[in-house]
Amino acid sequence: MRTFDSRAVMPLNSRLLSCAEKITKNSRIADIGTDHAYVPIYLGLNKGITHAIASDINPGPLENARQNIRKYNLENIIETRISNGLENIESSEVDEVIIAGMGGNLISEILQKSLDQNKTFKKYILQPVQYDVKLREYLCRSGFDILHENIVESDKKIYIIIEVVYTGEKYNLTDFEKFLGKNIENNIKKQKDLCYKYLNKKLKELNNQKNGAEICRNFEKYKYCEKLIKEIEILKKL
Ligand SMILES: C[S@@+](CC[C@H](N)C(=O)[O-])C[C@H]1O[C@@H](n2cnc3c(N)ncnc32)[C@H](O)[C@@H]1O
Repeated sequence: MRTFDSRAVMPLNSRLLSCAEKITKNSRIADIGTDHAYVPIYLGLNKGITHAIASDINPGPLENARQNIRKYNLENIIETRISNGLENIESSEVDEVIIAGMGGNLISEILQKSLDQNKTFKKYILQPVQYDVKLREYLCRSGFDILHENIVESDKKIYIIIEVVYTGEKYNLTDFEKFLGKNIENNIKKQKDLCYKYLNKKLKELNNQKNGAEICRNFEKYKYCEKLIKEIEILKKL
């Protein structure tokens, strides 16, 4: 019997709230790189998850997590566990996995190591803070199907959240899809103003890359940036 105060709330910023909202009700979850454990606590209070593993590679953040879990009286459903990525987490104990607040390279490494251990989970919520292009490249060449992507603004920054399942079927994404996400056109229909900010952010990134490519005389990269800049400018007009 859970004894937490039913009025207890865990305020989440929109980045973490958007990750939490993608979790299926009554599922068992693992939050990799949990740090403060805010997401499992929110899910424990609001989404009826039956079991959560709040996991981190470092003991300091995990102690942080433990204190917060205790504060909300959720020790009976949220356990803490030291783990490098998904290394110490078994598929049999978890349905859905959240990996948020890390670079796309590190997220790809974590996913690959777990495939090397023959481990897959029902669903993954990925929130790369940078290198999202590298992450999409990894996902399509490794058989992770992108179900959905959405854009959120949190603390005046723009983030993306990618929901994926492992199918094992490899596929291709165009440069445009890798750079902006798989369903950018749909997102524009739903979140016009936010997408406009997102496109501007991505244009800035491309212009920086293009300048760098010009200085290094990297002709191929220069052309790649130029092509994407044109495509994004067209999209912006639409
Ligand atoms: C920036 S915090 C993100 C915290 C939270 N997930 C969020 O999005 O707000 C990154 C956390 O990931 C942890 N971390 C870094 N590499 C990791 C790995 N390979 N496996 C598990 N945790 C890792 C760090 O110790 C840190 O607590």
